[in-house]
Amino acid sequence: MGDEMSTGETTVPKGVRVFSGMQPSGEAHLGNYLGALRQWVSLQDEHECFFCIVDQHAIMGNVAPDELPERVLDLAVSFLAVGLDPERSTIFVQSDVPEHTELAWLFNAVTPVGNLERMTQYKDKSAELESIPSGLLNYPILQAADILLYRAGAVPVGEDQLQHLELTREIARRWNARYGEFFPEPEAIRGGAGRILGLDGKAKMSKSLGNTVGILAEPDEVWDRVRTAVTDPQRIRRDDPGRPEVCNVFSLHRHFTDPDRIPDIAGQCRAATRGCVDCKRILADSIADHFEEARERAAELRASPDLLREILDQGARRARTEARATLKEVRERMGIRGRGRG
Ligand code: TYM
Repeated sequence: MGDEMSTGETTVPKGVRVFSGMQPSGEAHLGNYLGALRQWVSLQDEHECFFCIVDQHAIMGNVAPDELPERVLDLAVSFLAVGLDPERSTIFVQSDVPEHTELAWLFNAVTPVGNLERMTQYKDKSAELESIPSGLLNYPILQAADILLYRAGAVPVGEDQLQHLELTREIARRWNARYGEFFPEPEAIRGGAGRILGLDGKAKMSKSLGNTVGILAEPDEVWDRVRTAVTDPQRIRRDDPGRPEVCNVFSLHRHFTDPDRIPDIAGQCRAATRGCVDCKRILADSIADHFEEARERAAELRASPDLLREILDQGARRARTEARATLKEVRERMGIRGRGRG
């Protein structure tokens, strides 16, 4: 592997700083895990990493204020339970580092509205709303600020974030062109899992669509969720032959079930010698087994909320040191006074 470490599809050169973020919609789900989290865990072995819970992005959804703090802590538990290590990675909450929003404001000066309007996520989300909050349009500017505040060069994300990453690069280029070379143009790091579909087998797995399986769900809860999964729509009766290649349950098997069992699972589906319910039962067991250790760690963490808070406080202190240094330089170059700030 030489100087680089492999994370499926993309490699990160040594010495490049890694940043990524996740919205606190509570416990992470299988899409978050396969698209992002599991790469984060392996990247921290060789890289300086910053992992952020982006609560200020979450307010563009309609999360209730009294639920947000709990969701932040639940997501922190998910991070730590799958193996993010606060000694090796800086794990923190976006709003604990006020420089994120300040840099986002300053980036407004170089971000064309046309680019924001072209973002697929903006178009999808705004199409459902009668009155569109401007924060929904400006959302990717805050995302660019998250990344560039740490001058990160590598951003491990799922497919759905690639367009936002492209805009981040554009913002870095435009800012550098106007105020002098300073920000790197960060690369997206793709884990190779693609877009994980939800249990409906149609849309992206997403908390807001209610089609998720939580990574920390107890085994019987995993089964309750997985049993509702949509399989090959043409397989109506148990003795109809199935098509694993179009079945979302089968694609999840590929991620969680012992690879030696996969050919049999596919073969028995095609030959209709195993029904969908049995197939889902195996998947539910594989998922529950995969996260067994994570569930144990999560239970320990939930029992020590003070430790959890201390980890996030320590992360915020470390992140702020970096963030302050970047902002000082940025203000100077932009001719902003900013006295009285850290
Ligand atoms: P979010 O919170 O929706 O998702 C967090 C990470 O999980 C990935 N992901 C998925 N990957 C594959 N299949 C799925 N069904 C799936 N669902 C989620 C996402 O691609 C992402 O990597 N805007 C970001 C949060 C953010 C951010 C950042 C990310 C804010 N600032 C800076 C990177 C860098 C978001 O809403 O992700």
